[in-house]
Amino acid sequence: MSTALIILAAGNGTRMKSDLPKVLHPVAGAPLLIHAMRAGAVLEPDRTIVVAGRAAEQVEAAVNGFGQSARIALQTERKGTAHAVAQAQPMLEEYDGDAVVLYGDTPFISPQTLERMAAARRTHDIVVLGFEAADPGRYGRLVMQGDTLERIVEFKDASEAERAITFCNSGVIAAPARMLFDLIGAVGNDNAAAEYYLTDIIGIARDRGLSATAIACDEAETLGVNSRTELAGAEAAFQQRARRDAMENGVTLYAPDSVYFAFDTVIGRDSLVEQNVVFGPGVSVESGAHIRAFSHLEGCHVARGAIVGPYARLRPGAELAEDARIGNFVEVKNAQIGEGAKINHLSYVGDADVGAGTNIGAGTITCNYDGVMKHRTEIGARAFIGSNTMLVAPVRVGDEAMTASGSVITKDVGDGDLALARADQINKPGMARKLFDLLKSKKKKQQKEAG
Ligand code: UD1
Ligand code: MG
Repeated sequence: MSTALIILAAGNGTRMKSDLPKVLHPVAGAPLLIHAMRAGAVLEPDRTIVVAGRAAEQVEAAVNGFGQSARIALQTERKGTAHAVAQAQPMLEEYDGDAVVLYGDTPFISPQTLERMAAARRTHDIVVLGFEAADPGRYGRLVMQGDTLERIVEFKDASEAERAITFCNSGVIAAPARMLFDLIGAVGNDNAAAEYYLTDIIGIARDRGLSATAIACDEAETLGVNSRTELAGAEAAFQQRARRDAMENGVTLYAPDSVYFAFDTVIGRDSLVEQNVVFGPGVSVESGAHIRAFSHLEGCHVARGAIVGPYARLRPGAELAEDARIGNFVEVKNAQIGEGAKINHLSYVGDADVGAGTNIGAGTITCNYDGVMKHRTEIGARAFIGSNTMLVAPVRVGDEAMTASGSVITKDVGDGDLALARADQINKPGMARKLFDLLKSKKKKQQKEAG
């Protein structure tokens, strides 16, 4: 069965008090909308339509930026959820598959839940996702008859008896696309909110003899974001789950509450993450790696057995091969660090290749930027870069080559060669003592004059 995702994202988001559309606010480094799309990916949708209320280009750019694709339908007037879904219809004119409606501000619907909905679609025309609400509040109520969903009643329109129902509508719904649009065509707005309710399609479908059911998920999955406080709550919920998942997958966290994961962090088993580590987007860490305290990683790969930190920063494009070591106050960006290579102290290595077994001394800097363009530094295998070497890129240091401490390397260094690029040292015998005497007598004289 082919599937189209329709993601509703046209809400005003007034309570966010933001110039950014609500669905683009991030949780764990990805917009809320991207979380919804990633969950929906389990259904292998062959198209995704995001119904946005404004800033269509901004929404589209964000979607593309996260490697996803979607078409944006604009809903310029907010007339209710059925009206919102109807905006996707022109983009699904010839479409014969299923449609699954998700909310762009509800990031935690799990792939497993969507799979269960798809399974229920084999036996029912329409499947709605419900949840047992601890506090049913203003949610729409699911009126069940056995396992048949008879209708959904919005809180505003519900009777006392209906309000007593605790099985509530999450908003997620699956149905054949054509049937969905056909049913929406019959929805009116004669209700307490004068809105076109998507939820009305269930009663209409039942009147037409179609079958409908609801499956239940955990209430936590249906958590929506409407304010900055709820955004922070969603972040906390995400982090709590990510920490638990990491530990369940065999990762040791010394202080789980101080480790922050991104939406796509991958960490292999038997790796160890110390206190106060932050993973930005795009990080993968292989088994048995050790990320020490106060390190910040994003867009990088750490291979098996590598040790990072404490106080290290791995930026996008940092690739650490097995057993590499990145120590304190070292920044690595867009650089391949070979097997067993060591950059242990106070260095910047960017736009570089560092060969296996090479040792980079303290304070080394790859001068990769000339103010206009970036250039690469290549360092071979088993080389030794002396402390405080400036490598002015583009430049190459060969295999088993050495640079002397304090060198400013502007020319390539051949395999096995030693480069010395600093002023010669001159020693003046006894001169230091003479200088001390001179300076001390000067100081005494000044103190006498000052009284
Ligand atoms: C909706 C459901 C309710 C359910 C609840 C779950 C309807 C009529 N009601 O109510 O049964 O329990 O969600 O949270 O469907 N949106 C648009 N365009 C619109 C209106 C809404 O894009 O014209 C989007 C919103 O951005 C939001 C979602 O649809 O993401 C739901 O809209 P909202 O106004 O929050 O609906 P509720 O009243 O909460
Ligand atoms: Mg709502």
